[in-house]
Amino acid sequence: MKKWILGSVLTWMFLPHLRGDNLVEDVDVQAGCSTASNDLVYIIDGSSSVGTPDFDLAKRWLVNITRGFDVSSRHTQVGVVQYSDTPRLEIPLGKHLSSQELVGAINTIGYLGGNTQTGRAIKFATQHVFPSSNRTQPARNRIAVVLTDGRSQDDVVDAAVEAKAQNIILFAVGVGNEIPNSELVSMANKPPSTYVLYAEDYSSIANIRDAMEQKLCEESVCPMQIPGTANVKGFELLSRMQIDMKAKKVQGSLMSETSYLLSSRLDLTDSTRAIFPEGLPPSYVFVATLRLKSPTNHVKLDLIRVLSQDGLKQFAVTLNGLDKSVTFTSTTTSVNKKEQCVIFNDRGIKRLFDSEWHQLKLLVKPRRIICYLDDMQIEEQLLEPVFPIYIKGKIQVAKKVKMEATVPIEIQKLRLYCDPEQSEKETACEIYSVVSVMIL
Ligand SMILES: *[C@@H]1O[C@H](CO)[C@@H](O)[C@H](O)[C@H]1NC(C)=O
Ligand SMILES: *[C@@H]1O[C@H](CO)[C@@H](O)[C@H](O)[C@H]1NC(C)=O
Repeated sequence: MKKWILGSVLTWMFLPHLRGDNLVEDVDVQAGCSTASNDLVYIIDGSSSVGTPDFDLAKRWLVNITRGFDVSSRHTQVGVVQYSDTPRLEIPLGKHLSSQELVGAINTIGYLGGNTQTGRAIKFATQHVFPSSNRTQPARNRIAVVLTDGRSQDDVVDAAVEAKAQNIILFAVGVGNEIPNSELVSMANKPPSTYVLYAEDYSSIANIRDAMEQKLCEESVCPMQIPGTANVKGFELLSRMQIDMKAKKVQGSLMSETSYLLSSRLDLTDSTRAIFPEGLPPSYVFVATLRLKSPTNHVKLDLIRVLSQDGLKQFAVTLNGLDKSVTFTSTTTSVNKKEQCVIFNDRGIKRLFDSEWHQLKLLVKPRRIICYLDDMQIEEQLLEPVFPIYIKGKIQVAKKVKMEATVPIEIQKLRLYCDPEQSEKETACEIYSVVSVMIL
């Protein structure tokens, strides 16, 4: 009897399909800001102008902006350098591999006092801290955040150039009005609107916490630029999913615009990992310019959907031509629900189904979503917190709900901007009725 059990156990152990590596293959993988692979180094000003109370606020702020990340050897590793005349390595990159330990270590950092040699501190991080990263696979992103309140007594430009040459992204956070704007701009990456942040004083630094968290997340999950724009980050889905190659070109909403007519034989399916390798940012703007000609305006279709391996909707925008509404679906952290749906059925949305060109825009923030049609705000609704999407499944465009059939709609624009502020810049000027109202 015993022999038989031992034999079975041995057989089980050596059955190739039960081996661990094969099991891992079959498991879906979540990706998002929290699971991004980052080496993140904070370079904080400890010069005499700061003072102990404000230095404590700075430490608390570092703790706050680190909360969005999973601090671990696989995901985000954090290091901290404090500087005045000379830099001091407070926390080696990756020394603490849990958020709790890291927070404890940040809290015990003692304040230095002295002069402000920012350039030297950046050089130190570039030459000593980032190279000490000790991962099995190099981090995807190397990010440095410089927090300072005073003019540097040495040159920051050379140090910043050297850092950028090592693929280090530099954010500059200025506190108070002693630090010249030009110095922050010259050390940070371009554009300054993305990489330079200001706070009036240390007590108001908490106000830029969300902005900093969002920017760090964008850096982690949105490495791509929208083609034809200056530094606008996001996902140009028409080209990423090769809709511009596979579908038939037709005239768009204006003489000058091109659009794509999908055929019902066209299958627009990709692996999620190919399109959103690091998942979705915590805030984003989804924009689609499209025309639903009859009979497609009577169909219920997923304009876009991201499905996990077991078919759960991770992210979807559904156009319901039956009751003339739009549904947004995303993940939820709520334990007893698999997905959350928000329905926009205000009167204002019904025009989307009138066979003319329209621009649908969804501004998604961590706890709320706003729906616009042709630049008019339709409705705002609340969202439950979401968890990172599973990326081993597939992404599809213009599919009938719960089916594989493609609905032959016309698409002119299909984008996801990572910066929520892009919502104000993305006007519906390609829509004729909006143009004529603007001219009037
Ligand atoms: C780097 O990894 C080695 C082996 O895993 C470990 O002993 C060492 O402490 C690590 N160094 C740092 C700075 O984490
Ligand atoms: C840190 O977060 C806590 C809790 O959200 C908040 O009360 C505090 O003001 C924040 N402090 C800073 C300096 O960001």
